[in-house]
Amino acid sequence: MTTPPVTMDKIVNLAKRRGFTFQSSEIYGGLNSCWDYGPLGAELKRNVKNAWWRDMVQARDDIVGIDCSILMHPRVWEASGHLAGFTDPLIDCRECKGRFRADHIATAQCPLKPSKAPGQHDKCNLTEARNFNLMFKTFMGPVEESASVVYLRPETAQGIFVNFKNVQTTARTKIPFGIAQIGKSFRNEITPGNFLFRTREFEQMEMEFFVKPGDDERWFEYWVQARLDWYAQLGIRRDKLRLRPHAADELAHYAKGCADVEYEFPIGWSELEGIANRADFDLKQHAEHSGKDLRFFDEESREHYFPYVIEPAAGADRATLAFLVDAYDEDIVDGEARTVLRLHPQLAPIKAAVFPLLRKEGQPEKARQIYDLLRPLYAVDYDQAGAIGRRYRRQDEIGTPFGITVDHQTMTDATVTLRERDSMQQERLPIDRLVGEIAQRLAQPWQR
Ligand code: GAP
Repeated sequence: MTTPPVTMDKIVNLAKRRGFTFQSSEIYGGLNSCWDYGPLGAELKRNVKNAWWRDMVQARDDIVGIDCSILMHPRVWEASGHLAGFTDPLIDCRECKGRFRADHIATAQCPLKPSKAPGQHDKCNLTEARNFNLMFKTFMGPVEESASVVYLRPETAQGIFVNFKNVQTTARTKIPFGIAQIGKSFRNEITPGNFLFRTREFEQMEMEFFVKPGDDERWFEYWVQARLDWYAQLGIRRDKLRLRPHAADELAHYAKGCADVEYEFPIGWSELEGIANRADFDLKQHAEHSGKDLRFFDEESREHYFPYVIEPAAGADRATLAFLVDAYDEDIVDGEARTVLRLHPQLAPIKAAVFPLLRKEGQPEKARQIYDLLRPLYAVDYDQAGAIGRRYRRQDEIGTPFGITVDHQTMTDATVTLRERDSMQQERLPIDRLVGEIAQRLAQPWQR
């Protein structure tokens, strides 16, 4: 049987129906391109961020983490080049009031005639492209004047650069080493959309890896491969991932080289994460603008230098969307359609669900005891409503890898059945082996 294609509509419907995401401020009609994560979505996104932090910080002895404020001194954005250059070219249509990014116009749809691109319909009346700065502005303190303007950060990276010396001296790190951060960023995108893919408020997972100039190309290759592998290890199918090196004319103002990890979303191949060689651009700029010496002193060679920086920059929301899309599957079980999220067990919002087969014979009480046993260890669910097949389907649809069923036999020999989401195989095992068995299965490598 061929699996039906995964569309963004199916993902959005499932996400809403099961409480992964809700439109922000929905009861007031919603706020365009802003999303709230519901109970399951919050768990899923937290698991994505935890996996990143575990693999990028905790498991390594050459990377440390920080957590910076969102509001920063406005001069940061002068030095970083964002005030002058963090712009997108904007085109308006005087006729339909549509608004488009000039560099996306060929693939955009004319609101009057969606089969055509803006500019191709007789009535189109487009303006020239003008540059539009993507940073959100606000005011610090009670007076709304130019002296009190501050910006919501458009990337987490700058918090890392301005703290380079603080971290390096207090954590006594030696090059090569990295500083990682997860946090919110804001961009007043001209054309947000495609669910979590492009929003105006989003979370980034960025790491700046400081290396000796000359070692940068080697480290760039290392991080490109490491980041591609990370998604595959967390279950994304290899044939849905690819690398796309940037051409010289699309490099950001700070970059010497860049490659994107792309995923084949329902909207086509699109950037999941960018890995850039930022050379010594940022540290030099901040040294010049702040007047502080941000060079590294190399004790071996006895020289001062500005390190080069390799930056793997990922989006937590975009990664969460990719994991959801890649996991989505539909199949037929016992003649009935089943939707199943084949999420890596480590990412699954709920790890196990406990079911009493019947609501009598002490089965609910026994199932609750097992639920209480597992709850301090993992996110677990308890469900006694409806036929057991229905209950399995409800968990399959949200990606719960393990189902534990208490039945008549449990009451005599203290064993339960452990059902596995993907194979739907059931195994009988003693309750006192459950904790160890689930821990072992969660730690195993997993592929779809
Ligand atoms: N510090 C470099 C930097 O910010 P970027 O390519 O602009 O680079 C890195 O952003 C990642 O952040 C992207 O690959 C994407 O996953 C995520 N991202 C960027 N803009 C986004 C948006 N408007 N909505 C959701 N995620 C976004």
